[in-house]
Amino acid sequence: MALVIIKMPKKQAKLGFTHESQKSKTVEWYTPPWIFESLRLEFELDPCAPAGGVPWIPAKRVYTKEDNGLVQKWEGLVWLNPPYGRYTQDWLKKMHYHREGVALVFARTDCAWFHEYAIKADAILFLRGRIAFVDGDNITESMGSTSGSILIAWGEVAVGALKGMKEKGYLVLNNGEEAHELPLFGL
Ligand SMILES: C[S@@+](CC[C@H](N)C(=O)[O-])C[C@H]1O[C@@H](n2cnc3c(N)ncnc32)[C@H](O)[C@@H]1O
Repeated sequence: MALVIIKMPKKQAKLGFTHESQKSKTVEWYTPPWIFESLRLEFELDPCAPAGGVPWIPAKRVYTKEDNGLVQKWEGLVWLNPPYGRYTQDWLKKMHYHREGVALVFARTDCAWFHEYAIKADAILFLRGRIAFVDGDNITESMGSTSGSILIAWGEVAVGALKGMKEKGYLVLNNGEEAHELPLFGL
């Protein structure tokens, strides 16, 4: 049998799992308002925001690229929708140690950060369907993402908020049990 190698065009191969869109080169994709209407939380900080913040995000303070929110001090309940790509893990690491807030990221169970940080949070809500993020170039347009998303909660307040919107997906609470310590093939 002949082996047929199908080469993906370079442009298509780059799209991957980020918000890189077929119709826009923007890297600015904002969380849609329904997420905050469902969470019903007031955040102290959005550490990665565009200049001036996103108008519908209920956060008292923001850090922008100029400030580099990653190196700033985080206080109180944090809303985190980090910049996409290879730095996602640095933001989740910071949240892992901060342990107070909610993060929205792609449901990438293949990534190191999922196993290092997400599963050690207090709860994860696997959202049903795909989120239509809001395009930062043109606030009136939206773009469906290329994969599912999860909301991750650290701390009692954040977990309570995810419990309040559990009809939006499948909620997993972390009870601290290390199931994988059991022998995998111990029959
Ligand atoms: C995915 S968007 C999320 C925006 C908003 N927080 C939300 O939930 O819709 C990530 C934002 O992080 C900003 N950003 C990128 N690098 C940053 C940095 N080092 N420090 C702070 N903000 C940064 C981008 O400009 C962008 O507005």
